[in-house]
Amino acid sequence: MSHVIVEAKTSLKGSVCVPGDKSASHRAVILSALADGTSTIEGLSPGLDVHGTATIAAQLGASVAIDGSVVSITGPRDGLVASATPLDCGNSGTTIRLLSGVVASVAGRHTLVGDHSLSRRPMDRVAIPLRLMGASIGGEGERETPPLTIDGSNLSGIDYTVPVPSAQVKSAILLAALRASGDTVVRESLRTRTTTEDMLRHSGVTLTSTPEGEGRVIHLRPGRPSPQRWRVPTDPSQAAFFAVLGLIASNATIRILDVEASPERIGFVSVLQRLGGDVVVERGDGIATLHVASSALTATEIHASEIPSVDEAPILSIAAAAATGVTAFRDMGELRLKESDRFAGCMLLARSVGATTWSDGDDFFIEGLGSAAQFSSFAIDPGLDHRMVMSAAVAGTAGRGCTIENPETVSSSYPGFFHDLAQLA
Ligand code: S3P
Repeated sequence: MSHVIVEAKTSLKGSVCVPGDKSASHRAVILSALADGTSTIEGLSPGLDVHGTATIAAQLGASVAIDGSVVSITGPRDGLVASATPLDCGNSGTTIRLLSGVVASVAGRHTLVGDHSLSRRPMDRVAIPLRLMGASIGGEGERETPPLTIDGSNLSGIDYTVPVPSAQVKSAILLAALRASGDTVVRESLRTRTTTEDMLRHSGVTLTSTPEGEGRVIHLRPGRPSPQRWRVPTDPSQAAFFAVLGLIASNATIRILDVEASPERIGFVSVLQRLGGDVVVERGDGIATLHVASSALTATEIHASEIPSVDEAPILSIAAAAATGVTAFRDMGELRLKESDRFAGCMLLARSVGATTWSDGDDFFIEGLGSAAQFSSFAIDPGLDHRMVMSAAVAGTAGRGCTIENPETVSSSYPGFFHDLAQLA
């Protein structure tokens, strides 16, 4: 049991470069392990989640070598093989869901386990489509929570509509489809991040993606990814913590450098601008530098579809707690199924600083205090949830300080977070 005491700051100036994108890092490791030959990865996320994916890639027969900031991964010529020991996915939903798709066609038995947080998360959302492809897969209870047991078998392509917007589910199917007999079509009714599709295409796999309504239809022809030199962009969901910090802290100007700026990842910026935040986006080639400065915020309405995967909801709850008026968070049910129950967690964060919250079905509401200067100091136990830790730390820094129990779970995505926060003096 440990804790960290976060002190309030009266002025914040400087630049921050957040770590490599977690989503792209998992995929770079997996696609490299699937390829025949050696790939290199620069800018890999330093988080434990991605480290776990790389450890599993090695268990499945890939060679993983680290040389300074470059990771080299060589996929076995004859493809991945089953491991006699369980595959420990730790805290990472992306690891377990994407790798379920990968190992579903690898002969032998695979057991995928996770920590206490991951062991309560539903895997039926990947088990159902993989079973339709012919996979033998099962978890615990009705929602098929980990441990997951998968017996590798020959798969067939499917035509599948993903019932909940989820990049992890879409990706598990596409990765399984690489080795299926016949083509696969995945339909999503809301556009989620395109990291898997983009990186598969980059690896030479034949894949088309066509917008349809609010969503898209993805068509994949089986094939083996070729080795690549990956450069991972920085993680927009981590940038969101510093963007909110720069807006709600007093006397703050912060630059967040070289952020991946695809539409499905950067929706939080429009939300912050609608809240009245002074956020300037300086666009480069697929990346952006964000310039943020202290702002008086006014409540808005935020729909889950604006921030697909809802990773930014906890930190937006802190922004809402600092705003004047009632901010509505709509259709946020998916938050209950993240590393912790973030639906409750977002409201807990806001109440901890003194804001008023209530909920109605899948919507919740935060009546803000008008400024982070009105925040109370607080203590919080974020559970095994890295985004809860970082959101609390931002609230404490901009407000009146806080104590965070068990903060080490921040390392699952951003081990250097407290260091980067401290250097914004
Ligand atoms: C991720 C997908 C998201 C997100 C997670 C990363 C991914 O979940 O919460 O942090 O890399 O595919 P969904 O599957 O709900 O979109």
